[in-house]
Amino acid sequence: MRTRIIVLVAVAAVACSTVVVALASSSAKGLPSYTNGYQTWPKLNRKPIKGGSSAHSGTKNVYASRKRVRSRFPNGTVVVKSIAKPGDRPGMPSQVAVMRKLRGKWRYVEYELSGGRYGVLAQGALCQSCHSQARASDYVFTK
Ligand code: HEC
Repeated sequence: MRTRIIVLVAVAAVACSTVVVALASSSAKGLPSYTNGYQTWPKLNRKPIKGGSSAHSGTKNVYASRKRVRSRFPNGTVVVKSIAKPGDRPGMPSQVAVMRKLRGKWRYVEYELSGGRYGVLAQGALCQSCHSQARASDYVFTK
C-alpha cells in the first residue's frame, strides 16, 4: 500500500513537471521561448538581405544570440532569420527560420505565421542538406 502511494506521488510529480516544461517551451505567438527577444540580439548582416536563396525569399535579417569564437558558434547559440514580405505587420515577419546548436549539432526549424500564430513550416534534413554548403563557416551562410 505504501509503495503504491509513493509511486502515485512520483507519477503525479512527473506529470506536473511535463506540463510546466511544455508551457515554458513556447512563447505566446507560437515561436519557441529560446527565440524570445531575438530582434534585440546582434545582427550578423549589415543591411537587410533581399531576394537570395530559393528557400528563403523576402527581406531578411539574421540575428545570433551568441558571438562566434574562432569562427564557430558556441553550444546553445540560437540563430534567427526573420523573413518579411510586403504587408507584414512590424515585428511579425511572415516567416522565421531558426538554427539552434545543441551538443555541437545545429537543429533547424522554420516557422510560418498564420492567423497571428507561428506554426512549423519545415525542419530537419531538408534544411541541413543546403546549409552543409556553408560548412566552412559553421553552416551559417551570413558572415
Ligand atoms: C536551398 C538552400 C537552403 C535551404 C533548403 C535552407 N536554407 Fe537557410 N539559408 C540559405 C541561405 C543561402 C542563407 C543565407 C541568407 C539568405 O540568402 O537568405 C540561409 C540562411 C539561414 C539562416 C540564417 C543563418 C545563415 O545561415 O545565414 C537560418 C536560421 C536558416 N537559413 C534556417 C533554415 C531552415 C530552418 C531551413 C529549413 C526549413 C533552411 N534554412 C533551409 C539556404 C538554404
